[in-house]
Amino acid sequence: MKVKIIGGQSDAGQRLSGEYAIPGDKSISHRSVMLGAMASGTTEVNGFLTGKDCLSTIRCFRALGVDIKLEGTNLTIQSTGRFTQPKEILDVGNSGTTLRLMAGLLAGQPFNTTITGDESIQKRPMKRVTGPLSQMGANISGGFAPVVIEGSPLKGICYTLPVASAQVKSAILLASLYAEGETIIEEPIPTRDHTEIMLRYLGADIVSRDNKIISRGSMLMLKAQPISVPGDISSAAFLMAAAVILPGSAVTIKGVGVNPTRTGIIHVLRRMGADIRLHNERIRCGEPIADIEIRHAPLKGTTISGAEIPTLIDEIPIIAAVALFAEGETIIRDAAELRVKETDRIKVVAEEFGKFFVSDKNPIATQEDGMVITGGFPLKSTEVDSHGDHRLAMSLSILALVAQGETVVQNSQCADISFPGFYRLLPYTHEFK
Ligand code: S3P
Repeated sequence: MKVKIIGGQSDAGQRLSGEYAIPGDKSISHRSVMLGAMASGTTEVNGFLTGKDCLSTIRCFRALGVDIKLEGTNLTIQSTGRFTQPKEILDVGNSGTTLRLMAGLLAGQPFNTTITGDESIQKRPMKRVTGPLSQMGANISGGFAPVVIEGSPLKGICYTLPVASAQVKSAILLASLYAEGETIIEEPIPTRDHTEIMLRYLGADIVSRDNKIISRGSMLMLKAQPISVPGDISSAAFLMAAAVILPGSAVTIKGVGVNPTRTGIIHVLRRMGADIRLHNERIRCGEPIADIEIRHAPLKGTTISGAEIPTLIDEIPIIAAVALFAEGETIIRDAAELRVKETDRIKVVAEEFGKFFVSDKNPIATQEDGMVITGGFPLKSTEVDSHGDHRLAMSLSILALVAQGETVVQNSQCADISFPGFYRLLPYTHEFK
């Protein structure tokens, strides 16, 4: 499916204003199903993200014999904490989080499983999880999906993460709950800690100290608790971006997760000159939440690198879009992980964003681990392709808002993966075909 967007109508009120609610956090929604299924009892989840990736997680856990009901954004998980061997190959669709975390959870079960997914998933590296899980005693193969697991007894390990990845850390943590002895994970660069927070909330013995996470847990310690999923800051990022670049915009996005391992987008936009305020800050189920107020502002370039990268890894395509409206250069480095996301996001951002420019010279220069973006070039309407990458589809649609005339975004429907209803929220004149 493609979406046609009429952009550049600033005189027609093409700006964002008022209050917005956004769908639930994708990372926390996945974990609510997984940990809810591992805990004995009934877990009630509210604010669940009904995007395609999280529906894939539900499908996989139903195949493992867990009773899961979804009504609107409310989920009820009834579990004994035990799983049964699935009758078929588990299919995670486009969801790397589902595959990697489930590999950890399934490695220590008393049965065998095979997990696979779509074409994009089959190209993403899995050795980063199968490697440490093998060290724990897992019988697991597949540098790429399908990942084949022969359930085996596991033992705890001490492991230093060679890539900053919350998915790898979480896979090891879930496996540790079925392993004998202690597991220590050392994280040279911190990554999102939703797994640790939710495991602790459900009663597991997980301690985070300096840059180490120590698990002495067993899944038997997990007891069902109600889970509230906050709004996804990675989805809020698209509205924040539209608000800062569209003159006259001022919005408040309600109930957004502001866990410090995820708030890089706020720090970067502030450095670029945006006026962002947090209101009504509170903690729910161990996760910090706030309402985010943001308005249009003149922007300047910035540098993003090092430990800041994991705090905004999924937001880099939309940050690159914002950088096109900033004065001077925005430099992004230490972000080679972008090359192994749903698409090679360095290559695809440069190629597809490049189609919006009047001149042949692309203001986005790519490097192996990042890009340099020069702002201030005029945009023209065009035809672009998301390559099936949800965050690309949404970033391209934000650029289409500014480009004068009709832009077509091919393969736009994949926005559903993380942000159902995205196109309805923006001040577009739009049409699906
Ligand atoms: C996620 C972790 C990140 C992120 C992904 C979701 C998670 O991936 O890009 O969208 O829920 O743990 P990596 O851990 O591979 O960096």
